[in-house]
Formats: sequence, C-alpha cells, structure tokens
Amino acid sequence: MIKLHDLYFKPFISAKEIDIAVQKMADDIAADLGDEVPVFIGILNGSFMLVSDFVKKYPKACEVTFIKLASYEGVKSTEDIQRLIGLTQDLTDRTVVILEDIIDSGNTLEEVHRIFENENVKQLLIATLFYKPEAYSKDFKLHYIGKEISDKFIVGYGLDYDGLGRDLPDVYQLKTTQHMTNIVLFGPPGAGKGTQANFLKEKYDLIHISTGDVFRYNIKNKTALGMLAKSFIDKGELVPDQVTIDMLNKEVEKNADANGFIFDGFPRTNAQAKALDELMDNKDSQIDAMVALEVDDEVLVKRLLERGKTSGRPDDADESIIRNRIKEYYNKTAILKDYYSAQNKYFGADGVGSIEEITVRLSTVIDKL
Ligand code: IMP
Ligand code: MG
Repeated sequence: MIKLHDLYFKPFISAKEIDIAVQKMADDIAADLGDEVPVFIGILNGSFMLVSDFVKKYPKACEVTFIKLASYEGVKSTEDIQRLIGLTQDLTDRTVVILEDIIDSGNTLEEVHRIFENENVKQLLIATLFYKPEAYSKDFKLHYIGKEISDKFIVGYGLDYDGLGRDLPDVYQLKTTQHMTNIVLFGPPGAGKGTQANFLKEKYDLIHISTGDVFRYNIKNKTALGMLAKSFIDKGELVPDQVTIDMLNKEVEKNADANGFIFDGFPRTNAQAKALDELMDNKDSQIDAMVALEVDDEVLVKRLLERGKTSGRPDDADESIIRNRIKEYYNKTAILKDYYSAQNKYFGADGVGSIEEITVRLSTVIDKL
C-alpha cells in the first residue's frame, strides 16, 4: 500500500505486466503498419514513460513527438481540456499513431481529433495503454488497447495524483475504503465478550456486528435475505455461509464510512474466515486481528452458573450443558486460531480480572494494529 498526499493506493498492475502489454502493442502496431514509418505522438504529461518504453520495443524505424494537453484535476476528469503544446511539424499524408497512457472519459481524445481535423494525415490511429470502458463516453475508435481496467483512479507509470506518483514503475489503484481497523472478537461463553465489545466500540468508534443480531433483525424485518435465512432455519438446516456473508456485506456497506468493525459470532469455520477475508478484500480492506478472550474453563463454569441463577437462560443452568458449550467453542476456535495465527493475526488476551483490567489488555492489542 502507498500513500500519496491524503490518499491510499494499493498495488494493481505490476511493472512486469505493463511490460508485456507494451510489448504486445508495439508488435501489433508494427505488424499492421508494415514498412511505413509512423509518427508516434505521445500525449504529455502522462504518456512520457509509455512512449519511452514503447519506442524502444518498436522493431522498426519511427518518428516520435509529443503534444501536451491537460484535463485532470485531482482524481476527477474535467471537460475543459487545455492545449499547452500543440503540433510542431507538418504531418500531411503521414500515418500518425497517438500514444496515450490512459483513456478515461474520452474528452482528451476528442480534443486530439479536433487537433487533427485539418492536418490531412493519411490515417490517425489511437493506441492507449490503459482504457476504462465504463467511463468512456465517446464514439472514436480505439485501435490498440494495452489493458482494460475498471473505472477507478490509478497512479504510477506516468499517471499522477496531483503531481505525485508518475515515477512509480508499477501501477496502483485508489483504495475505495481508506483505512479501517477490523477485528474478529472471540471468547468462550461467559468470557465477557458482550461487555468488552461495547467498550471497544465506544473507544475506537467501531461498528459492532453481531451475526446473531443481524439475523434476528433481518428475519424480524422480513428482508429478502432474512426470509431466505428463515427458510433454512425453519427446515432445521444451517443457513448457508453465502446467505450470512451477503447479510454481513450489507451491514458493512451500510457503514462504509466506519473506522472499522468488530465481528462477533462470525466466522466460525475456515470457509467462513476465507469468505470474510474476501468480503473485506472487495471493500479494499482487511481483517486486522482475531482477538480472543482466554478464560479458564472452571472460571467460566462458575460464572455461567452464577449468571444462570438470575438470567433465567436454561442453557446457563445446567453444568453439563455449560461444559459442552465450552468444549464446542474450543473445537471450533482451534481451527480459527490456526487460520489467523498463520497470518500473524491471532491475539489472545487474558479474560480473567476486572472489566477495566481486561479492557486495558484488549486496548493494548488494538493500539498496536
Ligand atoms: P479523459 O480525457 O477523461 O479520457 O482522461 C484522459 C486523461 O486524464 C489522461 O491522459 C490522464 O492524464 C488523466 N487520467 C484519466 N484517468 C486517470 C487515472 O486513473 N489516473 C490518473 N490520471 C488519469
Ligand atoms: Mg494523459
């Protein structure tokens, strides 16, 4: 990940991939033009790196020149194209190949066509290294395209964000989510997860997503996903991971501006952990840590029996049921502990002590993320 001015960018297209795309453009154009000596025209500033690499790869004689246009402000294309340096030579009856670093809205390309309207060139071919089909709103034919990309702002290999990034040999893409801290909170029944989640949520301004609550909310409000989940529950079947993931996805999207999330009750299996990683990756974000409250079994049993006296929850009243729930928990977390440990993201915190003491232990972990 890199930071330019105020924005974060993630690796997107490697120098190696760019090299292959440029080589292919050079080969394709050379094959089409035969023995004709073309005039390659780079559109400055962005195309300087492409043009330099391209002409080195071009296997035959050619001429190279530049025109300089400007249309971008920050990360937005504007319609107002400025012609800073125009054509400086006669191109009558020549084959001209425009070399663009990127074609986005096509406004710049429109200006290029305007420039060539009265030049009486033999043919005007357009070659662009990057092309954003979703952003392109013109009808001009693009003869050679290095790589189609989605409509997201990129930097590197000549392309800049307010002056920075042109020098980078690789291309980076703007992260849609700028920076989040996302935690999977784990703890056996009776470990005090709920209490700690509430505290962390306040302290770090995180959104607490309890899968159980999300299910109940969706079912109660009869959302499409809620009804789908209910249809499995009613049949006594487990809700498929994809349904749960879709619900979580909605929750995450609802809170796109959040500082981060505390996931509670999810994931419970390796497959779910992977699915959650993918979900966060799609949001240009990541799970930073699994934080597990560690409490000795005997302490848990005592706490839960104590709670059972007042909570009225039948599953808190019976010692063998309690022990079974704790065993279940360890069977499941063992897998997840391995999953997150393998990524150096597992953090155990001693869950015995006063609420404040435990809170301090958790904060110590989170402050280091
Ligand atoms: P268009 O006029 O919208 O097609 O945009 C063309 C010009 O905008 C390019 O030559 C670039 O200078 C700039 N541009 C378009 N997309 C990007 C991007 O993703 N990153 C950096 N500059 C861009
Ligand atoms: Mg440009």
